[in-house]
Parts: sequence; structure tokens; C-alpha cells
Amino acid sequence: MKIAFAGKGGSGKSTTSALFTRYMNAVQNRPVLAIDADVNMNLSGLLGVEVAMDKLMANPDVADVIRNYIKGTNARVADISKFLPTTPPGEGSNLVRSVDDAALAPYSVRINDAPSLNLMSVGTYDKDGIGQTCYHSHLFVAENLLSHIALENDNDWVVCDMVAGTDAFAYSMHLQFDAIVLIAEPTPESAEVCRLYMELARESGIDGLIHLVANKIEDESDIEFIVKATGMTPIAALPHTSALKKLRQRGDAISTDFVTGDMATAMEKIMLAASKPALSAQDRMAMLYALHTKLNEKKWVQQGYGDVMSQIDPDFKITKVA
Ligand SMILES: Nc1ncnc2c1ncn2[C@@H]1O[C@H](COP(=O)(O)OP(=O)(O)O)[C@@H](O)[C@H]1O
Ligand SMILES: [Mg+2]
Repeated sequence: MKIAFAGKGGSGKSTTSALFTRYMNAVQNRPVLAIDADVNMNLSGLLGVEVAMDKLMANPDVADVIRNYIKGTNARVADISKFLPTTPPGEGSNLVRSVDDAALAPYSVRINDAPSLNLMSVGTYDKDGIGQTCYHSHLFVAENLLSHIALENDNDWVVCDMVAGTDAFAYSMHLQFDAIVLIAEPTPESAEVCRLYMELARESGIDGLIHLVANKIEDESDIEFIVKATGMTPIAALPHTSALKKLRQRGDAISTDFVTGDMATAMEKIMLAASKPALSAQDRMAMLYALHTKLNEKKWVQQGYGDVMSQIDPDFKITKVA
């Protein structure tokens, strides 16, 4: 399964992503690939590792390696410079079939204290200095990789700490997951982002994939506030945990000790909700085609990429291999 954690900056995306990663790996014994796709890279620290510059997906050399691999012999993509965020897989594409796939090894970091737990970071690598490129274009390569991850085994999990706010709707990020967990803390600002996110999700037809999770909950009135302000009912509530706050102040990682008791129960609820996706991978692929078609009409695409409609392979099926 592929799951992402989204919401306003500061609401607890990275914390919840790290907790869920640890829970799935240590408690449920699942192989997990964690992906840090937020501009503020916190997931690596919370998992206790560092991703070197030469492994960041936004590093142009790494992006080339990724695109060369997923392109495979797909003749519909003329060359790797023609990858748009919505470029779908087609005949000849190399799909990533497991989170332990050897193709991921050059740009992922193994988390040594855990079996089958790896981390990849998008990062903000920029040769020409800060502010030269927009973070969206860094995310393109992550979108390319994610659209080519078609896991063979439902035991494998991709856990993505998503870009903050509603930026996921800029291109295709919102179409890449079986579940998107929206994190709401009991503040008007966080709730407003969730409400807006859900509105965009409805417009895009992916609202069935969204699950609200309340975070930093101190009492019942916090939950009531979130329900009222978002118009949604959370599937789980994570208590305000001062040990989590202190750990972050020290710069420490989240250990498996945190995913016991009530926290484990909440993580299990998230797992169960995400395990029954309202849309299939093929449904999401159809949405990706529609978005690609829309993007094809944009002037910057026409000018920089030419006509990209032929990148869509109408007969291609992303279904599991037998
Ligand atoms: N359940 C919680 N209890 C206490 N503090 C929390 C909790 N969840 C997150 N925090 C704290 O809130 C801050 C923001 O969390 P973070 O996960 O970095 O948010 P985001 O990734 O959404 O920006 C951090 O300092 C973190 O330690
Ligand atoms: Mg974060």
C-alpha cells in the first residue's frame, strides 16, 4: 500500500509519518519505504538517519538515474528530459514492484536497527542556490517514481511525509496514494487547511482516499473543535504527548517504544483504513491520464516538451503481476 500524511505545516505530518513507519515495521513486521517529500526535511531525523546530498532525489544526477530506470524501454517517452509530473508508465516501463527493490538502493538509506526499513528524501538540492527553482519542480521526480511504484505484495508499505498544505494538488502528488491521512491539530489554522484540502480532494474525485486524524489532543473538546471546524470525523486521535515534544527539542529519533498502547491502537486504525482503498491503482491511473491531458494544453508544456499526449498508453494496465 502507498500512504501519505498531509496537512498544515506544524500539525504533525512528520511525527505521524515516523510513528506510522515504526509501527508498520516493528509492530506489524512489514517492509516499509519511507519517503520524505516535505521541503522541511524532518522525517530522516525522526527516523534517526541522514540522507546525504548525493542521494537526494532532487539532485539532478539522482533524478536522471531514477528516470532512466523507470523509463526502461518505454518508447512513448522520447527521453528522460520529457518526463512531466504526470507522465504515466506504459509498455516497457520498469515498475518498482517491492519496497526492497534493488533499483531503489542507490538513493535510499537503510535504517540499520530495523529489518526492511528504508528512507528516501526528495530534498531541496539546488546547484544555483536557494530560490532559483520552485519546490514543485523538485517534486516532479518523486511524482515520477511514485507513479511507477506498483507494489506486488500488499504487505509492502510506502509511507510518504507530504509537502505541506494543499501543494499536493499542484500536479499529480494527490493521485499517487491508496490513502492520504490528513492531520488536524485543534487550531483554526490547521482545521482550515484540512477543510480546503477536502474541498480540493472532492473536486479531484479522490475524497474517498482521505482520512482525517486528530493530533495533539488534550481533551474531548479538542475533538469536538476539529469535527466542527473541518466538517469531518477523525478515524483516530493522537494524544498530545509531551515526550514527543521533548524528543524533538533534543533532536532525537522516534523509537518503537512510542508505538505501544493508545498510540499503537491509533496506528492500527490508520492501517485498517488505508488497507481498503476506495479507488484502485487503475482508477488513479485514469485520473493521471486526465491530468496529463490537461497539462498538455499548457503553454510551458507545449514549448518545453512538445505534444505529450502520445505518452499515454491506453492499453497499459498497472495491475499486479501474477
Ligand atoms: N502528538 C503530539 N504531541 C506533542 N507534540 C507533538 C505531537 N505531534 C507533533 N508534535 C510536535 O509538533 C511540532 C510539529 O510537528 P511536525 O511533525 O514536525 O509537523 P509537520 O511535519 O506537520 O510540520 C514538533 O515540534 C512536534 O514534536
Ligand atoms: Mg514535517
